Amino acid sequence: MSSSLQTIAELEPLRSTIAAWRRLGERIAFVPTMGNLHAGHLDLVAEARRRADRCVVSIFVNPMQFGAGEDLDAYPRTLREDTEKLVQAGVDLLFAPTVKTVYPTGVDHQTRVEVPGISDILCGASRPGHFVGVATIVCKLFNMVQADLAVFGEKDFQQLMVIRRMVADLAIPVEIVGKATVREADGLAMSSRNGYLTPDQRRIAPLLNQTLAATSALLKCGERDYARLEEAAKDSLQTAGFRPDYYAIRSALDLGAPSDRQAPLVVLAAAYLGTTRLIDNLIVA
Ligand code: PAF
Repeated sequence: MSSSLQTIAELEPLRSTIAAWRRLGERIAFVPTMGNLHAGHLDLVAEARRRADRCVVSIFVNPMQFGAGEDLDAYPRTLREDTEKLVQAGVDLLFAPTVKTVYPTGVDHQTRVEVPGISDILCGASRPGHFVGVATIVCKLFNMVQADLAVFGEKDFQQLMVIRRMVADLAIPVEIVGKATVREADGLAMSSRNGYLTPDQRRIAPLLNQTLAATSALLKCGERDYARLEEAAKDSLQTAGFRPDYYAIRSALDLGAPSDRQAPLVVLAAAYLGTTRLIDNLIVA
């Protein structure tokens, strides 16, 4: 396949390329990533391409969303392989800036974007500052790329909700599209962090999705003792070899406590296998 992928690392050529497309009246879709691309990312790219004339992907391992002692240094950086995948996927532009380009005055001096409340629960409670890092980089990338729409995976359900709130609160003119989680054949949600798993951990990992499915089935049957369901699920994950971080049944509309109203529910979990933290969720449809 002949490549029409342009790779750009600086802001000025990014802006002029996108401005040229805009002058032609082209619709632009954007998929922000941290690279180490897998079939889940490529599914977001395919959705972006379906919805627009031009597809921009960013690869930037964002230091601001990693806490002290997290895997920033170990996070897989595979730009060459990623570029080949993006060529095959028909992407028009890869924006791959350096940390200096994104944070010229340093991460600590960067203006921050905080979506209050929703950023401090679930993953935000375990990873303080994580969603400020996510909201800040996504807001900044939106300003840099100025796409008509952006596509995000529902695997990061809370992240998607933080981004939707940020876009609404700050009146950012971009449409946010959520895309269902892509899974391995055994149900494990695709994630760059799956590569950290040992063969034994990889064998156990699909139990996270199976446990969510079991909770979801009980909810569909009318079970409403949420605390009991959450505790039972945590116990079975622990027995299987996980160290559960949280397991929560929440409103799928705002991640608040489920009410008796007919609001849709989502079951969300984070659990460690060794030092690898996996997250997953299921919407109870
Ligand atoms: O989901 C991710 O890969 C990242 O959190 C994102 C949205 C690219 C921001 O760095």
